[in-house]
This record gives sequence, structure tokens and C-alpha cells, in this order.
Amino acid sequence: MSHTVTETQVLDALRTVQDLDLHKDLVTLKMIRDLKVKKGKVSFTVVLTTPSCPLKDQIRNNAKAAVEALPGVTEVNVKLDAAVGADKKIQEKIAAPIKNIIAVASGKGGVGKTTLAVNLALSLALDGAKVGLMDADIYGPNVPIMMGVDHPPRVKDRKLIPIKAYGISMISIGFLVPPGQALVWRGPMLHNAIKQFFNDVTWEPMDYMVVDLPPGTGDVPLSLAQLVPISGGIVITTPQEVALTDARRGLSAFQTLKVPVLGIVENMSGEIFGVGGGEHAAEELHVPFLGRIPLDKRIREGGDVGQPLVVTEPDSELAQSFRSLARTIAAAVSVLRSRESESNPDEPEPKG
Ligand SMILES: Nc1ncnc2c1ncn2[C@@H]1O[C@H](COP(=O)(O)OP(=O)(O)O)[C@@H](O)[C@H]1O
Ligand SMILES: [Mg+2]
Repeated sequence: MSHTVTETQVLDALRTVQDLDLHKDLVTLKMIRDLKVKKGKVSFTVVLTTPSCPLKDQIRNNAKAAVEALPGVTEVNVKLDAAVGADKKIQEKIAAPIKNIIAVASGKGGVGKTTLAVNLALSLALDGAKVGLMDADIYGPNVPIMMGVDHPPRVKDRKLIPIKAYGISMISIGFLVPPGQALVWRGPMLHNAIKQFFNDVTWEPMDYMVVDLPPGTGDVPLSLAQLVPISGGIVITTPQEVALTDARRGLSAFQTLKVPVLGIVENMSGEIFGVGGGEHAAEELHVPFLGRIPLDKRIREGGDVGQPLVVTEPDSELAQSFRSLARTIAAAVSVLRSRESESNPDEPEPKG
């Protein structure tokens, strides 16, 4: 007797396959699109919640295996696509078409905040996301240098056009503040500069905006963070003993503002500064540990000449430390979005 497989059977099989970050099945999560069943040939697309999904190959393989196990199936074609969910808090606060804002903070300067912001943004873009990078570090607006940008943005129809570099859109507070004047800027001027970043810049639609915040916990970082509807905050620290104090300081602004904390990153790990301070701090402070970046002079050299490591050697082991960190961070943002839709669902969950 020959079996003919039906769409319902395929969907039932896919109900046994979980998204490994969201811990629900692909059908419940409405991740299956373009399902076609023709005799024994089955094809469909799995729409992931981020192109940076760290487990995408595993999810694809699991989906394929589940359908292949059905009697009568002779061929299974699985395509992957991604649709990043939008943080509703952003749309309520600003008009720019930005789905998620990821802010990088630190307890003090010099720990690699800008290096992380730049390589994180570029890593997300390499995976296929649309990405923006906002340099809001009034004390040290170094993003243009690290991105190899040496000219200010153009103005069109009274709005700034973000600068395109290495496939991402970038703007820096350094373009708005005359050099050397940052430290004498008072609150209201900063306030206006940040507002301008959202209202007077022609942003293209994007999945993730990465923001390089000023270091520390003073009034400036706090008021900046208050103006930006941050979807998730990251704290970067170094591996030494002082990491705990620094990380605590970095976290406090996010916590004061009730910004969800994605976790702590340890930078400059290795023989010189040691390993483990970031992880220890994450444990003590009860936030996730996101990963570590080794101390390596190629990272500094790339930053100095405006050619970030993730661009010049994207497949190197060193770049992979940034790229896998970016995937962990993207997955954590997806989890936030899915919790949000759980707590106020737009539409009822499908039955069964
Ligand atoms: N993992 C690393 N290995 C080597 N050098 C690094 C690393 N991370 C950052 N640096 C270098 O350390 C310096 C400070 O980093 P930066 O990102 O500017 O820190 P912050 O923005 O926190 O002040 C820069 O010269 C940068 O290139
Ligand atoms: Mg910096």
C-alpha cells in the first residue's frame, strides 16, 4: 500500500520540532511558511526570529528529519529565512523605523566598549541583518575612527543621512559636537543631540541599532540612556579582579532605567589580564555571561586603521569570537520579543 502524505501530517511532524532558544515548536511559533506537498515531495521555509540564530543549522536539520520520517515522504527541501520582531516600546517613543536597540555600556573607559559595539554591529550585518550603529559616547566618540570614516554626514531636506560603511549605517555624536567641546556640553544640549539622532536622521528600516553609550554612571550616561528606548543592555568588562566593581557600575544605569540586561561580556581575556573576571561578575550580579573576546593585537590594529577585524578576516577564529557573541546576543533579543508577544498576544494561539 502506498502512502500519500498530507499538509496536516507534515505540520503535525513539525509540531515536534522546537526552536531551541524559544522552547516552543515551529508551528506554534508560526515559523513555517510556503509549505508545499506534492506526492512525496515536501518543501517549506522556516522563518527564524533572527538571521543570526545560533542554532539555525540544527533547527533546519531537525525539521528536515522530522518530515523525512513520515511514511510516503521521498524528498524534503527546507529553506531558511528570518523576520526580526520589533520592540513596541521603540515605536511608542520614536518615529525611526528601528526594530531593536542594543546598548553597550561599561563601568569605565578603555575596556573595549567601542570595539565591541563596532564588531557586534558588523557581525549582525554579516549574518544578513539590517544594522545601524549610533555613537553616543560624548566623552570619546571613536566609532568613526574604528569604522574608517573621516567625513561628516551629508544633510538632505534638513536631515542627516547616516554614513554607510561596511554595509551598516552609522552616525556619531562626534559629528554634532565641535571637537574639544564635549566636556563643556550641558544636559540640555546633549539631550537635543540625542533627540536629533532619532528625529533628524533619515534612518532606513533596520533590525538592530547598536548604541555605544558613554562609560560610567554619571548624569550623562543616565540621561542618554533615558532618551533612547533601549531593548537590551550589554555590559563589557575586563577579566581582572576589579571586573566586579566595574560591571556593577556598568549595570546600574540599565537597572535604574529598568532596561532589560542581556548580560556581561569579558574583553581582553588571556595571559596578560587573566580569564574569568567577567564570568565571575555575571554570577555575582545574577545576569547572563555572554562570552569572552581574547586580548589580541590584531583587534587593536584593526581599530586603529578603521578596518575592523570582523571585516578584514571574517572567518578567522578571532573574528568568530565576536560573531558567535553577536549570535548569542541576537538570540537573547529574540527571547525578549517572544516573551513580549506572550504577555500581550496580538492574536490567539492556534489550537492543538
Ligand atoms: N580584545 C582586544 N584585544 C586587543 N586590543 C583591544 C581589545 N579590545 C579593545 N582593544 C583596544 O583597546 C583600546 C580601547 O578599546 P576601546 O574599544 O576604544 O575601549 P572603550 O570604548 O571602552 O574606551 C583600543 O585601542 C582598542 O583597539
Ligand atoms: Mg569608546
